[in-house]
Amino acid sequence: MRKVIIDTDPGHDDIMAILTALAHSSELELLSFCTVAGNQTVDKVTNNILKVEEYLGINIPVYRGEERPMVKDPQPQPQAHGETGMDGPILPEPLKKAEELSAVEYYKQILEKEDKVTIIALAPLTNLGVLLSRYPHLSEKIEAIALMGGALDGGNINKCAEFNIWHDPEAAKIVFDSGIRVIMAPLEACYAGAILLSETERFRKEGRVSKLVDDLFGFYCRYAIERNWDRTSVFDLMPVLYLLDEDLFVSEKGKVDIILDGEDTQGQTVFTKGEGNHIVLVDADREACMKIFFDAIDLLDRRYQ
Ligand code: BDR
Ligand code: CA
Repeated sequence: MRKVIIDTDPGHDDIMAILTALAHSSELELLSFCTVAGNQTVDKVTNNILKVEEYLGINIPVYRGEERPMVKDPQPQPQAHGETGMDGPILPEPLKKAEELSAVEYYKQILEKEDKVTIIALAPLTNLGVLLSRYPHLSEKIEAIALMGGALDGGNINKCAEFNIWHDPEAAKIVFDSGIRVIMAPLEACYAGAILLSETERFRKEGRVSKLVDDLFGFYCRYAIERNWDRTSVFDLMPVLYLLDEDLFVSEKGKVDIILDGEDTQGQTVFTKGEGNHIVLVDADREACMKIFFDAIDLLDRRYQ
């Protein structure tokens, strides 16, 4: 079984990815969550994962991560995820707290102890950038980093860049240059694997987890509805799905370089096919992806009643 840590800034799509990973606990042994500033402040996104844990009645350690990118200032995205970072579901304030240890120091401890760990990164790469610049030798203990981030053909935050990479391009560069095997799910794979708005109606049914997902989509889909789109990308779901079944995606091997500056280009991911230890997902089997997602939520409805 693969040991995984999820690095996250929940985030509507982060939670849907996390739920799918939880449903596959016989394939992915989820050791912990590490939070990081991204969609909202690190305190808000940490609070969100703690709320979801209490709602589900689960107890996976949560480590609060970096509150600002390595060089830039934090730039939360309330238009996409609301003031809380997870607007929509109304959940009680959590009793549970994050662990005392910071995410970066936790990564150091766990990587020194464990044989090999896979990191699923659903947020800006600040925690990993700080980790690898402070303790570069630990790159050997990371089996792979499966991440949502990057774009091959046009960004969602500036002309060329995707939000997670743009928010902390310096950290992204450290990660992509580290020699670690990186699996990148860029915007294009997420667009290909998107959920139809009509399909989100399936969550309006009995079930504690379906109710959570329905409330998440209630807010998250507004962006697509306002633009008359018939679908929306559950971005962060894609790297989790890849770890569950690589055949859901068309992928290419090569090397990704990160552009650090330029108004239109900061955070751009430049992909060169060929030699390299980066796998880039370029297309997805949408219906097969959605089947795994829908089945995961159904399973969790039965597990967490
Ligand atoms: C990424 O940015 C965030 O808004 C989402 O959670 C996802 O990780 C998409 O660009
Ligand atoms: Ca995210």
